[in-house]
Amino acid sequence: MTKRLFSILAAALLCTVCAVAQDKPVIKVETTGVQLVFKVGDNGRLYQSYLGKPLTHDSDLHHLPRGIEAYLTHGMEDYFEPALHVEHSDHNSTCELKYQSHSVTTQADGAQHTVITLADDVYPTTVKMHFIAYKDQDIIVTNTEIINGEKKPVVLHKFASSLLNINRSRYFLTEYHGDWAAEVAMSETELNFGKKVLDTKLGSRASMFIPSFFQLSLDAPATENAGNVLVGTLAWTGNYQFTFEVDNNGVLRLLSGINPYFSEYTLKAGETFTTPDFIFTLSDSGRGKAARNFHNWARNYRLKDGKGTRMTLLNNWEATYFDFNEEKLAGLMGEAKKLGVDMFLLDDGWFGNKYPRSSDHQGLGDWDETKDKLPNKIGYLCKTAKEKGVKFGIWIEPEMVNPKSELYEKHPDWVIHLPNRKEYYFRNQLVLDLSNPKVQEHVFGVVDRILTENPEVAFFKWDCNSPITNIWSNYLKDKQTHLYIDYVRGLYKVLDRIKAKYPNVPMMLCSGGSGRIDYEALEYFTEFWPSDNTDPVERLYIQWGYSSVYPVKAQCAHVTTWNKESDIKFRVDVASMAKLGFDIKFSDMSKDDAEFCRNAVTNYNRMKPVILDGDQYRLVSPYEGRHASTMFVSEDKSKAVVFAFDVNPRYREHLLPVKLQGLDPNRQYKVKETNERGNNYWFNGRTYSGEYLMTVGLDLFSTRRGLTSHILELE
Ligand code: DGJ
Repeated sequence: MTKRLFSILAAALLCTVCAVAQDKPVIKVETTGVQLVFKVGDNGRLYQSYLGKPLTHDSDLHHLPRGIEAYLTHGMEDYFEPALHVEHSDHNSTCELKYQSHSVTTQADGAQHTVITLADDVYPTTVKMHFIAYKDQDIIVTNTEIINGEKKPVVLHKFASSLLNINRSRYFLTEYHGDWAAEVAMSETELNFGKKVLDTKLGSRASMFIPSFFQLSLDAPATENAGNVLVGTLAWTGNYQFTFEVDNNGVLRLLSGINPYFSEYTLKAGETFTTPDFIFTLSDSGRGKAARNFHNWARNYRLKDGKGTRMTLLNNWEATYFDFNEEKLAGLMGEAKKLGVDMFLLDDGWFGNKYPRSSDHQGLGDWDETKDKLPNKIGYLCKTAKEKGVKFGIWIEPEMVNPKSELYEKHPDWVIHLPNRKEYYFRNQLVLDLSNPKVQEHVFGVVDRILTENPEVAFFKWDCNSPITNIWSNYLKDKQTHLYIDYVRGLYKVLDRIKAKYPNVPMMLCSGGSGRIDYEALEYFTEFWPSDNTDPVERLYIQWGYSSVYPVKAQCAHVTTWNKESDIKFRVDVASMAKLGFDIKFSDMSKDDAEFCRNAVTNYNRMKPVILDGDQYRLVSPYEGRHASTMFVSEDKSKAVVFAFDVNPRYREHLLPVKLQGLDPNRQYKVKETNERGNNYWFNGRTYSGEYLMTVGLDLFSTRRGLTSHILELE
């Protein structure tokens, strides 16, 4: 939000404000491949007439049918799910919005920002619909402002970010549900008359069962490289809701926004409610193109430090859990150096004195170093890391508290819990009430204290292991239904302050795996932790799922001991397909395996620019059989990296060569295997034209028993 305002103010290169036109205005929002057209009806109301491939002849726009009301309101003549339900101060719950004006400006970042203003004739309620169109990435970012012009408060019951009306023959929804350690399992359903709702009520750890993105195939199920598909996501770090409603005429109405569940919001006189961004793309060449649109847009415009590099690391969580001291950590830092990674990351368990954090039952909230474990505090760890030649990062979970903590004893009023019922715990902890400015100060203080005392701290892993339970805010008093929303807004206030004071400190967003991930959070976080499940076979599916909208640059993948049947090469190869890290005890590893890892880090550093900044082509889906392959191509197409995996193939399976994608057909590419461990491809070292590789392909898969992996570098 801040970024957008800044860009608008910074450079409005072109500004056309159109007052109510003599003739009814036709408003276009468009990118290279997507066009949204709005028309004003004879009744003065705004209708969405078109969503699809751009119509290049403006004269044709007048032929378009009027369509369905663009921001449908409660209580009028359309009986389907409304975008807006305002209860005015006299308790009248209706709104009739009429077109007032629209403006188009070019932002400093080059995107076109269209604002359409609507207002009610009877009540002073104004709605501003915002659309920011990123031409080359085919991404449209949209949100809505609802302004209460009354002299008294009004109550918002429904407040969607966006309503899109889509008129196609059939609709197929792909959703990504799951649970802890089983995130983003993909499934597809055809939508027929009625509603399908994807939403969450988990609050802080909102995405634990389902992340806030989907793919909607139009007319027929899209494949990776063919078909029409709309991909959307809500940039909101809390409860969200997508409603897909097929109406009596077969039109699909797609409502996106904050989940209105237990969230009636009172807007004071003159106050504006700004909804979060709904971000979408439309691809006419399948899911892969849609995913690349998102990756490209995220790296350029949204992800924190989207164009910067990422650090490889060694994390101590699975190597030590809570059982460590200075000596052990110094040893691990030495291992990190030997391994060649950039950073050592200290995980949970370093804090608490009255209730030392020796397990997840106590200490959370007391952010002073445990004297027994770390007598010389974080400063000593930073110094030791420096001596060993690695950077130092640290784990925090500042929004949470264990009931067994000094923080809870001192400030029970800061905790979200019910005053008159027994507490219910999720991972033995409770959530702090971030709607309360004092709690915001405390949470900011956790990061601020660490960085003020230890400016060398180079990275934070910000965890969040509990959803909001026992819902009651001592601070909000009679406004309890504000809690889900004000919690998230409080979190953004804290993150804004951290970003302003420490703009260059990278942070990983973690929520016991990926209970929390969205594109608003990624304005503050450089990366996220997709799952606690690091079994490489499971990761093939999980990383595939997240790459539908998030670039691999933002996805942390650590090599651990999960899945003992896989050898170290398979595990390292899967993790190298994203942001590589290690969470493993090297002292337990064979000499050969440790040496393999060291070489793999060197190889990864060489390939990193192509993997993290190149275009991702998902060649073979793990969902389609016992093999998977993904490749990355540098922007100038001079380099590529191809990953291939066999997962317990069948005896004498019929295997076809895999056709590569995204290469320059007229360039010659030398194909070289990397992370080698015997068993190289027979074509290792050969040179092929891009045309051959994309037309005939390479025999990337085998029917060898077990788990096999290969990485190819193309130059
Ligand atoms: C959950 C995270 O996902 C893990 O990586 C680890 O940081 C633990 N929390 C620590 O409690």
